[in-house]
Amino acid sequence: MTPIIQTTDLKKLYGDVTAVDGITLSVEKGALFGLLGPNGSGKTTMIKMLTGQIRQTSGSALVLSREVSSDPIWVRQQVGIIPEQETPPSFLTAMEYLNLVGSLRKLPDLRSRADWWFDFLDFADKKNVLCKDLSRGTRQKLMFTQAFIHQPELALIDEPLINFDPIMQRKIKDYLAEYVRSGRTIFISTHILSIAEEICSGFAILHKGRLLHTGTPQELSREEMNLDEFFLHLVGREKDA
Ligand SMILES: Nc1ncnc2c1ncn2[C@@H]1O[C@H](COP(=O)(O)OP(=O)(O)O)[C@@H](O)[C@H]1O
Ligand SMILES: [Mg+2]
Repeated sequence: MTPIIQTTDLKKLYGDVTAVDGITLSVEKGALFGLLGPNGSGKTTMIKMLTGQIRQTSGSALVLSREVSSDPIWVRQQVGIIPEQETPPSFLTAMEYLNLVGSLRKLPDLRSRADWWFDFLDFADKKNVLCKDLSRGTRQKLMFTQAFIHQPELALIDEPLINFDPIMQRKIKDYLAEYVRSGRTIFISTHILSIAEEICSGFAILHKGRLLHTGTPQELSREEMNLDEFFLHLVGREKDA
């Protein structure tokens, strides 16, 4: 089966900082894939390359079988994206922002889709509030809505649960797990290992821009190690090397 994401020796340098250092990774359709690693390990840089927000220094990134840097607009049309710490435009209300997304995504039934999300994430009372006046959590709900409102084949989310309270985190985790059951794919980055352990079907661990390990949570439970222990073990081994 053709992977939905395939990177080959993907690299990104910012000046003399090597943020991503030759990553070869494939993600199959239907996966809920977690890109894990501590702060500064290159997760956001990977997601930016996979969504055409930045161009790689070298190597290749195929998303839906197209080279992202050759066709970034096409790729962004197909996928859903929640960039790290991005907030919706301050000068629009929540509904105005979703109308904008709906016209960009050419969704004739935007109104009913938006209402479903307002109800699902419990923020219908914020529909007509300017984004600048929304709490961080509500802004994140809106970002979540814009990424999934067109039900993309692939969604890429940078740190999905940041800003959510525990009840909303549970709801989002359940939604993500359900989303991939119909064969769609989700690629998340997180430094919170328990999220990956709980919901991911597969994961990769980055450290200083390099791929330390790829695996599945089942593999870890067979080894009677949780992801935290496993991660510390790998990073420790790296430091010792
Ligand atoms: N725009 C940038 N300019 C220079 N260095 C950057 C830039 N963005 C990220 N970096 C560096 O690249 C490395 C990886 O960062 P990042 O991809 O944000 O990691 P993560 O998302 O895992 O925290 C870090 O060392 C970071 O300081
Ligand atoms: Mg990041």
